[in-house]
Amino acid sequence: MNKRDVIDAILAGKSHDAVGKIGSATAPVNFALIKYWGKRDVVLNLPVTSSLSISLPQFGAYTTISYAERSKLVLNDKEIASNDAVFQRLFDFLNLFPRPKGTFLSVNSHSSIPVGAGLASSASGFAAAVKALDDLNDWQLDDRSLSILARMGSGSACRSIFSGFSEWHAGIRDDGMDSYAEPLPYTIPDLSIGLLILSAKKKKIGSTEGMKQTAETSFLYKSWPQKVDADLKNMQSALKAGDFDCLGRIAESNALGMHATMIDTWPPVIYWQPVTVECIHKIHEARAHGLPLYFTMDAGPNIKLLFLRQYTDEVTTLFPDVHITHAHE
Ligand code: PMV
Repeated sequence: MNKRDVIDAILAGKSHDAVGKIGSATAPVNFALIKYWGKRDVVLNLPVTSSLSISLPQFGAYTTISYAERSKLVLNDKEIASNDAVFQRLFDFLNLFPRPKGTFLSVNSHSSIPVGAGLASSASGFAAAVKALDDLNDWQLDDRSLSILARMGSGSACRSIFSGFSEWHAGIRDDGMDSYAEPLPYTIPDLSIGLLILSAKKKKIGSTEGMKQTAETSFLYKSWPQKVDADLKNMQSALKAGDFDCLGRIAESNALGMHATMIDTWPPVIYWQPVTVECIHKIHEARAHGLPLYFTMDAGPNIKLLFLRQYTDEVTTLFPDVHITHAHE
């Protein structure tokens, strides 16, 4: 099964003749509290395990798309060259969609993610692009179809279709039609997320390559699906009960578990910088002194703090450069 077959199956009977129109959409950034690390199908971005995330309403992408005479990408008011990796990755995906004969796609996107944060902007970018295409052509696809399409741009993008908490079901089918995200009916009203941008250095290894090497060589990775299963069940209970401390504990342990499999990979995949470890100790020390502060991390050196809004002052005193966002605003 390839991506185009899936796209054709989802768009069967839909038209794509919206020349002269403009489609627009927004999509939030999402952070996984239970991580996706490892693919069972590299082409369709089908994951080994399910995962669970929270979307951040204040950070995301706003994208417009129209049919044009040439492929064009403008990101934050700057035109991106066609030989740039960002351009190529986006158009390799968008060009799989049917379009009127002789036309190309012109994409204009604004990202409100702090620049140089090394934070997965691709998830909100691909989700917004798929939603903008849907708007342009008036396909009126349901959220499940949008999630499946976004997943084929970037795995975690399937979770950026939704606000709040969402779960991406791994699925078992070869065509991935059962691998999509769904919103979860829970809120933790005062949940706050603090972005600590510790290093803007370009990471040495991207997530696709990192996942592949981990799955191929890490012995610890064999136990990763079991950990995710247990963490997912416990996280669901924590969300249902509105238990922030439990959420924080599971999220931090899950992120550290993922990094343990990365470190156990050969050659080792170590995303941490000295300042990352310094911050982890600072968080643990604050917690030992009674501050309910936890963290999660992705495939990079930056840290995402998890805390409740009433501790904003304490967190800002500890980390003056933190960018704070509230999960349910
Ligand atoms: O969707 P990708 O290929 O950018 O992979 C994301 C991987 C992690 O951010 C490390 C985990 C996750 O679930 O988002």
